[in-house]
Amino acid sequence: MSENALQTLGEFIIDKQDDFQYSTGEFSRLLSAIRLASKVVNRDVNKAGIADIVGHAGMTNIQGEQQQKLDVLANDIFITALSQREVVCGIASEESDDFIDIKCGPNGHLSKYVVLIDPLDGSSNIDVNVSVGTIFSIYRRVTEPGTPVQLEDFLQKGVDQVAAGYVVYGSSTMIVYTTGNGVNGFTLDPSLGTYYLSHPNMRFPEKGKIYSINEGNYSKFPQGVKNYLKYCQMMEGDRPYTSRYIGSLVSDFHRNMIKGGIYIYPSYANAPTGKLRLLYECNPMAFLAEQAGGKASDGFNRIMELEPTELHQRTPFFCGNTEMVEKAEEFMRIDVVKD
Ligand code: AHG
Ligand code: MN
Ligand code: MN
Repeated sequence: MSENALQTLGEFIIDKQDDFQYSTGEFSRLLSAIRLASKVVNRDVNKAGIADIVGHAGMTNIQGEQQQKLDVLANDIFITALSQREVVCGIASEESDDFIDIKCGPNGHLSKYVVLIDPLDGSSNIDVNVSVGTIFSIYRRVTEPGTPVQLEDFLQKGVDQVAAGYVVYGSSTMIVYTTGNGVNGFTLDPSLGTYYLSHPNMRFPEKGKIYSINEGNYSKFPQGVKNYLKYCQMMEGDRPYTSRYIGSLVSDFHRNMIKGGIYIYPSYANAPTGKLRLLYECNPMAFLAEQAGGKASDGFNRIMELEPTELHQRTPFFCGNTEMVEKAEEFMRIDVVKD
């Protein structure tokens, strides 16, 4: 189909505005700010090799991880776009220790939305020209509008998300998001700087055949995960499955949603809650997965029903085709019964 016939993301956002009761256009402006910031990050990611933005920034974030220059840059770009356009009252980011209060509007704090963000996901892949992403999650604040935002505005369960999505800076750049009415994907035409609706109503295929996990950590995995991996590798029926692991959650999830698969980052020895962060990695991906007919679990419980207690909380993560996630959960349960 030619671009002339395709709907742009801008048109789509306006069309969908009426889906929101008492819509004031504020949410549409928020999505537009994310769209703009993603284009700026895309530009920078694309010239990473020739600009002095590859490598370590020389700092560590709150989780003790080394920040890449592009982590810091992407964080600044999203925070600037969201705060200067006055479309959110608060932001929490992987790269900032604490949440940020945004006093927008002439009277301050007029926006009712907060955003949680992983500005650059898979950033260790940037130096080697492999796809990276951005993940975002949007909630309505729970405290009184007009007052500074509080921690409780961010510590909401995944089920209360208003919208969630990601940008994948890959062989092409895409925004994929949901507002609870299915998942839609938009591809950037870089020559025009416009996103077009290229993947309407994205769904996991009925059957999945890919498993994605950092198998180098095998010896540290819980027995249930080890047993599930053996099951994936067994020659029986439609197995063995194919193993694919990029090391960018966004890219691994994107591929699995299109081709059918499961992504696992389990707990491991000395890390009972795994690596991934509940609020700005797992919850938004879980919302997308469920909206695309898939499932997301910590091995035992639905991700979106977990009660958050900390901004940078981690959780084990099993996400993908419903059937595959349920099978992995079955192995996890057997393991617990044996213990
Ligand atoms: P981030 O770059 O935001 O810190 O996230 C990296 C995450 C996730 O994207 C990826 O799937 C996972 O870490 C990879 O971890 P391992 O290198 O331990 O497999
Ligand atoms: Mn990440
Ligand atoms: Mn990150």
